[in-house]
Amino acid sequence: ASTLGAAAAEKGRYFGTAVAANRLGESDYVTTLNREFNSITAENEMKWDALEPSRNSFNFSTADRIANHARSQGMKLRGHTLVWHSQLPSWVGSLGSASEVRSAMNNHINQVMGRYKGQVHSWDVVNEAFEDGSSGARRNSVFQQRLGNGYIEEAFRTARAADPDAKLCYNDYNTDNWSHAKTQAVYNMVKDFKARGVPIDCVGFQAHFNSGNPVPSNYHTTLQNFADLGVDVQITELDIEGSGTSQAEQYRGVVQACLAVSRCTGITVWGVTDKYSWRSSGTPLLFDGNYNKKPAYDAVLAALGGS
Ligand code: G3I
Repeated sequence: ASTLGAAAAEKGRYFGTAVAANRLGESDYVTTLNREFNSITAENEMKWDALEPSRNSFNFSTADRIANHARSQGMKLRGHTLVWHSQLPSWVGSLGSASEVRSAMNNHINQVMGRYKGQVHSWDVVNEAFEDGSSGARRNSVFQQRLGNGYIEEAFRTARAADPDAKLCYNDYNTDNWSHAKTQAVYNMVKDFKARGVPIDCVGFQAHFNSGNPVPSNYHTTLQNFADLGVDVQITELDIEGSGTSQAEQYRGVVQACLAVSRCTGITVWGVTDKYSWRSSGTPLLFDGNYNKKPAYDAVLAALGGS
């Protein structure tokens, strides 16, 4: 296979990218997207502020453009994200009581998952609910403050009922290194959910790496240990700061770690081209600003068994 998507498919995986709807008019962008990738995540368009800017008033038009693109190209669609403290419209934080926050959260999940029912293969139901650092504590979000620890479980139960066929994922960053407290905290939550029958199908590893946060040597161990709990694992927002051979080698290591875990079902990079990366000063992706393939691209394709 000569493209990322086709090579990954031969390994039984998908290879996706984040997409920004406002780039879908750029021909080089679309050409590269359609040629190389077979799964799409909306970079911002399926977040709460974009979809429900005021209470129970939904605007799906921009998200639909991404969903329609995926469908028309026969690509999979990842859903990102239903319950997150960031890119959350201020009205949610202004709700007067726990029961209002609860009903807003559940309504948001029901409406959004209902809209894309049958189209989204995996949803990031809850994103980034844990603190960084050594505490392993829950992040102090609106949901955590008002609803307490049980909000994550409630979100997953609501999501299962809203679209029983979608895979339900917990997604986070800085959970790549097995020895980190945050990784352990997420692991313990998933273990508890599986033990109590709380519906969870997958764990997303964002995988935003840089020189201060390189791909850890125990990455494969982390992915395998989560998979051994009985969930799929997915690499959901991969990007790696750097350039040249060293960047390529790190990308190779990530792909090899995923392929070594049978329940690692797919990889998504967080953007098509360095030109539009959220890391405005960086070059963390597989195509440069002119849509040329970088050494990192060649390493990923080779690791997937393509050429
Ligand atoms: O849409 C507005 C536009 O109207 C306004 O004029 C402009 C001015 O700054 O801002 C635009 O919004 C920006 C938005 O991206 C859409 O482009 C926000 O400022 C900007 O903060 C936002 O950044 C996004 C970031 O999430 C926000 O949290 C990045 O594009 C997106 O790549 C990034 O993605 C996150 C994942 O969702 C979760 N994991 C981490 C990852 C990287 O931060």
